[in-house]
Amino acid sequence: MAPLTIAIDGPAAAGKGTLAKRLAAHYALPYLDTGLLYRAVGRRAAERGIDLDDPQATGEVARALDAGEIDEASLRGREAGELASRVAAHPPVRAALVAFQKAFAADPRGAVLDGRDIGTVICPQARVKIFVTASPQVRARRRTEELSAKGRAVDYERILAEVRERDARDAGRLEAPLKPASDAALLDTSEMDIETAFRAACDLVDRAL
Ligand code: C5P
Repeated sequence: MAPLTIAIDGPAAAGKGTLAKRLAAHYALPYLDTGLLYRAVGRRAAERGIDLDDPQATGEVARALDAGEIDEASLRGREAGELASRVAAHPPVRAALVAFQKAFAADPRGAVLDGRDIGTVICPQARVKIFVTASPQVRARRRTEELSAKGRAVDYERILAEVRERDARDAGRLEAPLKPASDAALLDTSEMDIETAFRAACDLVDRAL
């Protein structure tokens, strides 16, 4: 049988990353957080004073990116997420990052990838596709709690506005917009804790084995 490729998509702060990481550990598969690639491009472009709305110049940054040099810790924050979502709208940026992602997904051991267009563009043949959602309010609340647990002063209303803005940008763009693949299973985690969501995802994977 073809290797087990698991595509996880969904909006910001829906719990994709946590879920994808746990699935990867559980099924012993390599894991790629594709958002990091866009975050790295956004951050690098901003550092170099490049106009984030310039598709060609940001595309150049994406072509020069060495995925092996990505420093995850420095790219985790909300600011890098915003930069990522701006550059991710540009076709030249997306085109430059496709080959690396597809090669990762073609690992003979199988793979878990999470992002926005994994089931639709990067791995349309993935054996399992899960679109993870949660209401904007739940996502904003989770993010607010996460940040206050780290001792950061945060305003729920502001986070909610950011979540909505990022959703609108990711779903509204012309190139590879955020949307479930037609054959993706929807997993709404609004009323689930991580353990319940993980078990539901494992059920979906096990059914495909
Ligand atoms: O998943 P994460 O929040 O790290 O992604 C940051 C941004 O990168 C997203 O808001 C989205 O605009 C972009 N992205 C994308 N396609 C992916 C992964 C991320 O457009 N596969």
